This record gives sequence, structure tokens and C-alpha cells, in this order.
Amino acid sequence: MNAAIENDTLTKLVALCKRRGFIFQSSEIYGGINGFWDYGPLGVAMRRAVEQAWWRYMVEQRDNVEGLDSTIICHPRVWKASGHLDKFSDLMVDCMDCKKRFREDQLATPGECPACGSKRLTEPREFNLMMKTFVGPVFDDEHVAWLRAETCQPIFVDFDQVRVAARQKLPFGIAQVGKAFRNEINPRFFTFRSREFVQMEMEFFCRDDESMTWYEYWREERWKFYTEVLRLPADRLQLHPHDKLAHYAKAAVDIEFAFPFGWGELEGIHHRGTWDMQRHSEFCGEPQTYFDQERNEHYLPTVVETSCGLDRICLALLCNAYDEDTAPTKKEGMDEDTRVVLHLPAAVAPVQVAVLPLSRKLEEPSEALYRDLKRSLRADYDVTGNIGKRYRRQDEIGTPFCVTVDFETANDQAVTVRDRDAMTQERIGLGQLKAYLLERLL
Ligand code: GAP
Repeated sequence: MNAAIENDTLTKLVALCKRRGFIFQSSEIYGGINGFWDYGPLGVAMRRAVEQAWWRYMVEQRDNVEGLDSTIICHPRVWKASGHLDKFSDLMVDCMDCKKRFREDQLATPGECPACGSKRLTEPREFNLMMKTFVGPVFDDEHVAWLRAETCQPIFVDFDQVRVAARQKLPFGIAQVGKAFRNEINPRFFTFRSREFVQMEMEFFCRDDESMTWYEYWREERWKFYTEVLRLPADRLQLHPHDKLAHYAKAAVDIEFAFPFGWGELEGIHHRGTWDMQRHSEFCGEPQTYFDQERNEHYLPTVVETSCGLDRICLALLCNAYDEDTAPTKKEGMDEDTRVVLHLPAAVAPVQVAVLPLSRKLEEPSEALYRDLKRSLRADYDVTGNIGKRYRRQDEIGTPFCVTVDFETANDQAVTVRDRDAMTQERIGLGQLKAYLLERLL
């Protein structure tokens, strides 16, 4: 990917996200901190909805996947065993002229090489991506701990606890959603490469001779999640098999999305063999084996992993949803006006329905309707500005339905429901409204 071809859509989206409070720089009043992003009221509503959709799809709707919420800081040996402390690093070079730092493997990429044009670079040096902290009152080497760089390691470590507690037999999976931290050298493309981000990972423990069948199963399931649950168009998604595999892995593939700046990874589906379980067995001194009663043998489970980034998925949804089209207007001398609209799927839209009284005189029944809808949906209420302006405000944040209460409502016990995408308006009886919306929102 290349900064130079980062196009207009992303720039506009970043501005919209800040203006409407989806996502903005962390600690902005101090000038921001590179690679850290805050989610405002709309952003957090959307991110939670995506997380919830993942959790329902991966955990709640299945009998063979259990949930876990582990700590961010684990015993430092976990990261020794996982290889992160020794190998989780990038080779970096410094430009002696502009003093900027670059990843050596990306120096050939336009936009990643020194913009100053200099060829005077230092020898490559290793930079570990783990974030360091101290646990306890003394800040010395003995008290060093690490913020987790991936959410999956505690899953491996807790495998037996979860298996026993949940009375599970192989094959089964453990899923976790949570923060991960990486000291990325070049955070970029908005939230795409951040230093603090949320991962949603599932480790599926199975017999080795069944592992490729499970790998294929999970690859299909994950594709379905993006296309059927999140409704991302299949032509903006691709499967990208890894060219080089780790020595222990039988297969690995990424699911990529066509971002405005190029194809970018949303998720990795990895066959991890018995590597992690083997390493933790060695480092903790207890074999992390499973006793298979049917086969009457102990063995290390083989692991198939599905690992995605929640922030990247939200960014993909926003990029896919962003659009500028025309809508009818009452502005003087104009029939149509440009509108900015987010065509977000209703299941993840931060506001699912907005109640808009046509006049302030209609506030009482409108507010009552809003309160009622809010019990089952993410609802908003807006009385300020003319109705056209209010529609535009809702379009811009992706609200799929606007409900207008007018002077007829008291007589016909009905409201007008406007559809964000089709821009059609339908008269719906108050008694049917909730069912009408729920049917279209899920
Ligand atoms: N346990 C395997 C693992 O962590 P990864 O490919 O390093 O694999 C998995 O990360 C996912 O986490 C990626 O596909 C991406 O969606 C997300 N991710 C990784 N680094 C990220 C970063 N710096 N910023 C945002 N998301 C990131």
C-alpha cells in the first residue's frame, strides 16, 4: 500500500468521522499521539454492534465455541514461549538526512522510501514491537511485563481451564475479544495500522488428522460472516493464501478488503499445528496435552485460528458505506442537492431509527414514540432544523430509517417512514411500526 495513492474517500471519511464523533485522534488537545484513536458516541455504538455480531456468530450461536476474557498483562514467560520476545520485531533503517525510520522490507515500496530522496541509510537494526511496562513498585528488569501483542496467547494458556469448566471435548474452540498493543513503527491509513487495537480471535482445538477439514470449514464460515452478516460486497473481498508458511503450519490465508489505499488484511485464518501448545508445554513444564477417551491416547491438540481486527473491520465498513449522491431539496432554485450518506448495514448502524417531529408542537407524542423505540433499537430524536436538514444529518451517520410524526398522526395513528437508501416514504400504522422496523433491521 502506498501513501501517495491514498485517495479522496479516506480523507473525506477521516473528516466525517471527526466531525460527527465516530473516531478521532487520542488526546488531541495535547497534539494527539500517533497510532492511537478514540471512538466517540457513534463510533463506539458501531464498534460494539460489530463486536456483538461477531460474538453471536462465533460463540453464542454455536455449541462448540466457548468465550474467554483474559487479562491484558500475563506472566512474562507467556511471551517468551510464544516467541514474541525473541522474534516479534521488524528490521528498521534510519535515514541519516531526514532522520525518519523505515521498515527495511518496505523500502522498495513507493511512499515508504525516504521522501527526501536520500540514499544514506543506517544498517538494518531490530526493533521489538512488544510494549513494555512494569508490575510492582520497582522499575527494574525483574519486574518487566508486556502488554499482549495478540489476544490468542492467553487462550492457549487457559485451554485446559476452559475445557474442564465447560466440560468440552475436542474438537472445540475458545474465542476472545480484546485489546492488543504493538509498537508499530509506521502507524498509518487512519485506524488500519494502530498501536492499540481490538482483536477478535478464535482458536479451534482439534485432532491433527481432522485439522485441514476444520481449516476449510472456518475459512468458509469467516467468508460468510463478511458477506452475509456484515454484507460487505464479495467483489471488494478476496482470499489471499500465504506464499510462505511457518514450518509448523499446514495452511494460512488472509481475507482482504479493497480499501481506498489498496487491498488490506482484515483477518488471518491460520493452521498453527501444535506449535503453541508445544511451546507452552515446554515453558511451563506441564504437558498441555488432551486425553482422548475414544482413542485412549494423550496428544497435543492441533489449532486452527481465525484472527481479525475489529478496528479494521469498522474501517472497511465505513469505506464501503461512504457515498455522495443527490437528494431532493427545498433550497431556493434547486431540485436536487448533493448528500453525503453512509450505506451502513442496519445491524451495525450506530443509530437504527431517528424520530423527527415535523413541528415542535408535536414533541409530546414524538418523544413518547422515541422512548418506546429506544427500548429495543438504537434510536435518536431530533427536533432542530428543517426536515431536509435533519434527513441529511441522519444520512451522514448511516441511519437506515427516519420516522416523521406529523399533524395527521393524531388522526390516522400512523407515521411516515423514510428509507435512507431508496429515499422512499411509506405511511405505517403506529401499531405495526416496531415490527416493520425490526423486520428490516436485523
Ligand atoms: N494471532 C494471530 C495474529 O495476531 P496478525 O495477522 O498479526 O495475527 C490479526 O493479526 C489481525 O489483527 C489482522 O488481520 C488485523 O485485522 C489486526 N491487526 C494486526 N495488527 C494491527 C494493527 N497494527 N492495527 C490494527 N489492526 C491490526
